[in-house]
Amino acid sequence: MNIIKQLFKENLIQNTKNYFVLSEDSDDSNQHQVNDSYDFQWKLVNETKERDTAWSFQKKWYLELYGFKTEENLAKFLQTKKVILDAGCGLGYKAAWFAELAPNSCIIGIDYSDGALYASEHFKDIENLVFVKGDIANTGFNNSVIDYISCDQVLQHTESPKKTLIEFNRIMNNQGELAVYVYRKKALPRELIDTYFRTETKKISIEQKVKMSEQLTVLGKRLAALNVEIDVPEIPLLGIKGGKQDIQRFIYWDFLKCFWNDELGHDISVSTNFDWYSPSNAARYSKSEFLKMLLDTKFKSPSFFREEEACYTAIVKKS
Ligand SMILES: C[S@@+](CC[C@H](N)C(=O)[O-])C[C@H]1O[C@@H](n2cnc3c(N)ncnc32)[C@H](O)[C@@H]1O
Repeated sequence: MNIIKQLFKENLIQNTKNYFVLSEDSDDSNQHQVNDSYDFQWKLVNETKERDTAWSFQKKWYLELYGFKTEENLAKFLQTKKVILDAGCGLGYKAAWFAELAPNSCIIGIDYSDGALYASEHFKDIENLVFVKGDIANTGFNNSVIDYISCDQVLQHTESPKKTLIEFNRIMNNQGELAVYVYRKKALPRELIDTYFRTETKKISIEQKVKMSEQLTVLGKRLAALNVEIDVPEIPLLGIKGGKQDIQRFIYWDFLKCFWNDELGHDISVSTNFDWYSPSNAARYSKSEFLKMLLDTKFKSPSFFREEEACYTAIVKKS
């Protein structure tokens, strides 16, 4: 697509028809670690037999997370956007989905990991889609050239989420829209373990983290197999909600991420646990912290907002 080079102020290196390199890696040690972690994770996921099931699962969730509800509604929305950015596209299946739903739009997927390269190989036959390896906090795009930015499950892994939002604000035009997801802060015991783990994660090898993710997966599977409900008393000081809860979900949300999903199976469940514990950047927010960050980075109050146990999502325009 000729339009690509016009969108960027910096010279991109074009490696293949649909793969460009803006920046290979980060000098920052945390972002560098995040990139390495995803290089590893995407290579594994690309080879699992449940990969396509995981992608379908994620697409369905996307329709809920951002209020589109149906693929038809998403298609209608995307067709009004000429230039669409999938910021932190990973293996690129959502960028490819957008490209198919909006065949007259130009779709760009950016990722700082090898995911961008794998995506360009896998989706090389989609004409209105390209992939770029680089930092979404420093995209090299000209000002105000993007109509829709989808930043799904990514912002918290960037070195500075605020800096990333400021970059989005710069590259979006005034009618442009940003769909963005952040991790939600959870119960205190879970937060304390997670915070402790972020400081440890850099000292632990990838192999050890894979092993731990496998162990957590087995734990999650065994707890789920119990199929036991517990009536939890509310413990507000610890952020623990009361009510009947499945024992695996109770431990999962309030103490320890031990993901298990029957439909997704062993490998994707291991990858999901690894995804949580491995990247050393993994910011979490309360609702008010997230909304304040959006306002501070010059976005309007969300036109759409959703709360889930795991996350907050919003659609916003520039103020
Ligand atoms: C949890 S994955 C989400 C991938 C994809 N959006 C999806 O929903 O499947 C997070 C992705 O963000 C990417 N990422 C993290 N920091 C980034 C940065 N500064 N610039 C570009 N991509 C980044 C990672 O490489 C990884 O592919």
